[in-house]
Amino acid sequence: MWPVEIKKDIYWVGAIDWDIRDFHGYSTYKGSTYNAFLAMDDKITLFDTVKKPFKNDLIHHIHKIIDPTKIDYIVVNHVEMDHTGCLPEMIEIIKPEKIITSPMGKKALISHFHREDWPYEVVKTGDEISIGKRTIHFIETRMLHWPDSMFSYIKEDKLLISSDAFGQHWATSERFDDEVDHAELFKHAAKYYANILLPYSPRVIKLLDDVNAMGIEIEMIATDHGLIWRKYIPEIIQAYSDWAHQKSKKKALVVYETMWHSTEMMANSIAHGLVQEGVSVEVMDLKFNHRSEVITELLDAKAIVLGSSTLNNGILPNMADILTYMKGLRPTNKIGAAFGSYGWSGEAVKLLNQFMEEMKIKVIDPGIKVNYVPTHDDLDLCIELGRKIGKAIKKDI
Ligand SMILES: Cc1cc2nc3c(=O)[nH]c(=O)nc-3n(C[C@H](O)[C@H](O)[C@H](O)COP(=O)(O)O)c2cc1C
Repeated sequence: MWPVEIKKDIYWVGAIDWDIRDFHGYSTYKGSTYNAFLAMDDKITLFDTVKKPFKNDLIHHIHKIIDPTKIDYIVVNHVEMDHTGCLPEMIEIIKPEKIITSPMGKKALISHFHREDWPYEVVKTGDEISIGKRTIHFIETRMLHWPDSMFSYIKEDKLLISSDAFGQHWATSERFDDEVDHAELFKHAAKYYANILLPYSPRVIKLLDDVNAMGIEIEMIATDHGLIWRKYIPEIIQAYSDWAHQKSKKKALVVYETMWHSTEMMANSIAHGLVQEGVSVEVMDLKFNHRSEVITELLDAKAIVLGSSTLNNGILPNMADILTYMKGLRPTNKIGAAFGSYGWSGEAVKLLNQFMEEMKIKVIDPGIKVNYVPTHDDLDLCIELGRKIGKAIKKDI
C-alpha cells in the first residue's frame, strides 16, 4: 500500500492485514487495518505504531514521506500489541525525544516491554503539547477499552485520533468512510462496538457527554482500525450513543444448538410465532454462526431466545461458549426465554434460565422442554411461546 494524506501534512502510515481471521476470539472475516498517523511539523510526530509483523509496512510508508530517524515524538494512544507490537524496534530506529502516553499508558508500556529508561512524557486529560503549527490536546479514555486508552485531538486540523474507538475490523484499499459501502461500514462498526466496547457502555455515554461539553469541533475521526470518518461523523456518534444506551429494535434473536435437530425444529417454530407478531427475527445455529456475529445481532435485539438440548446433564458446548462470552460483554435491557429437547433428565432449559437470571435478562416464560422429537402439538406450543415473546417485545419498545 501507500501513505495517504488525510489532512494537510498529516498522513496515514499504517498497515493493512488482509488475512487475519481471528482477533482474540472475534471473527475478522474481512481482515483489519492497524492505523498509524504521521504529522509533519516542527516536531515530527508519529501517532501509534502497528502489530509486530507489519513493522516493515509502517517503515516503508514513513520512508515515502521522511527518513524515520527524523521523527521526534511517538504518541502511544493505546498499548495493546496490535498498536505497539513493533514499538521497541521503532524506538531503536527513531530514538525519539519523547514517547507521549497517559499515566496508565506508561504503566502498561513498562509491563509489556520492561523498559523504564524510555523517554516517557506522561500526559493527562486537558494537557496540551505544541508540535509547531499544531497543538495536540489529550483526553484520557480509560477503559475504552483498556485503562491506558487515550484520544489525541489536533485543534488546528479538527482531527480526533481516537485510538480503538469508532473502529472497525475491515481491510480495504480505501481509507475514508465515504469511499466504501455505507451499510457494510456501519455493520462492521456495530460489530466492533458489540464485541469490544459493549461492557463499557456507561463510560461511552459519559465520554460522549464530556466531549460534547468540551465543545471541540471534529472534522475527522482517525480511528486505529478500519476506515477514517470524515463524512458520517454525526451518524457514527449517534450510533455510538444508541449502542451505548442499548436501544433495541422490534427484533428477536433465536440462538440454539442441536444434535439431532429437535431443538432446531423448536427454534424455527418459535421464530414463526415471533414473525406472526410482526417482529424481525434472526435465527442462529451455533454450529454455523460465530460468537462475535451472535453478539453483533444481539446489540439491537430486544429479546434473546436460547435453545439447547441436554448433553450429559448440561447444555451443549457451543452454547456454553456463547454464554461465557455474552456474560463478559454484559448486554442490558433484554428479555428472554429458553427451550430445548431432552432425553431423560433435561437440565438444559433450567440452566439457560439460571444464566439469564444471573445476567439480569428478564425471563418472560419458564420455557419449553420437549422429550426427544417434538410433536405437532409441541411445535404449536413453541409458536405460542414465540408469539408471547413477540407481544412482550412490542410492549417494551
Ligand atoms: C451423548 C449424549 C448425551 C446425552 N445426555 C443427556 C442427558 O444427560 N440428559 C438428557 O435428558 N438427555 C440427554 N441426551 C439426549 C438428548 O438430549 C436428546 O436426544 C435430545 O432429543 C436431543 O435434542 P437435539 O436433537 O435438539 O439435540 C443425550 C444425548 C446424547 C447424544
